[in-house]
Amino acid sequence: MQSIQVSAIRPLRVGGIYLPSNVLMAPLAGYTCYPFRMLAYELGAGLCFTEMCSANALKYKDRATNRLLVTTADEPVRAVQLLGGSPAVMERMAESAFLRDFDIIDINMGCPVPNVFKSGEGSALMQDPKRAAAIIHGCKRSGKVVTVKCRAGIREDALFAAEFARVCEDAGADMITVHGRSRSMMYDGEPHMEEIAHAKAAVSIPVIANGGIFSAEDAGRMMECTGADGIMVARYGLENPFIFSELTGKVCEKTAFQILTEQLELAARHYDETFVLGYMKKISAYMMKKRRGTKQYKERLYRSGSLAELREVIALIFADSPV
Ligand SMILES: Cc1cc2nc3c(=O)[nH]c(=O)nc-3n(C[C@H](O)[C@H](O)[C@H](O)COP(=O)(O)O)c2cc1C
Repeated sequence: MQSIQVSAIRPLRVGGIYLPSNVLMAPLAGYTCYPFRMLAYELGAGLCFTEMCSANALKYKDRATNRLLVTTADEPVRAVQLLGGSPAVMERMAESAFLRDFDIIDINMGCPVPNVFKSGEGSALMQDPKRAAAIIHGCKRSGKVVTVKCRAGIREDALFAAEFARVCEDAGADMITVHGRSRSMMYDGEPHMEEIAHAKAAVSIPVIANGGIFSAEDAGRMMECTGADGIMVARYGLENPFIFSELTGKVCEKTAFQILTEQLELAARHYDETFVLGYMKKISAYMMKKRRGTKQYKERLYRSGSLAELREVIALIFADSPV
């Protein structure tokens, strides 16, 4: 069964930047580092984002935050996600040398985490449209393409993504991604597709639908029910990165083992060993979720203390598998 209409998967233009597909990979803290983004692009994702980078942390030249900005000229489109609540700081960071290599700045207006919300950042910006508009406006002065990722609303009984999408468009945003859950829902429950559809109908910039896509069928349903210009896969992209080739038809003959081995080598070229170990353990754990008979290796995976040990355990888990 064709789970998603081929016509629904198409190239997309965002603020003048051509994306070969409208299947996007979400920003995911702790995961969407340079190697993972390169993998998603290779498999057919049209656009991938860094995880959220705090504008304040950048301002203070925090080393860990700087590491989130690793990219190279090989990355097809370079999109960074910024988190911040101060229009002045966001504008300064958007124009700063830290973001010199990036083509797109995505502004996080969806993070539900209490300490972020209390600081007036992430989803709190949806409650303060004036400040949200000032941030978009300020970031646009960098000359880069500016996109926004928000939620369907704050509380589930009062969704307002359509109204908020208009605010973003009027302020100059080039695209908006709506995570169909409210802030109060955090990461669980059915996304409100009708609210994404309202947002799509309210603006003429591209609207991307996100939330709860855990299969190709879910992707098809999301596209059909929202009429969105594209979809954004998040957690499922970690579990099954092949979803991008499945949806876009981009041919990939690599196995999970090959993919993980390449991830490890690429990560080792760009990050220190501690980071590589942490990242590879997390991504391997996600990818082994649905693999039978692999539970026995989980502890060994987490206990690996060197890249050599990690290579061995990854081979034990994945090397015999045909996919
Ligand atoms: C571990 C984790 C990290 C996340 N990090 C970010 C982030 O850095 N920026 C962001 O905008 N959203 C972030 N999100 C939200 C996702 O991008 C996405 O909107 C959410 O997971 C819903 O999609 P899904 O149901 O398909 O997973 C994160 C979610 C998770 C589970």
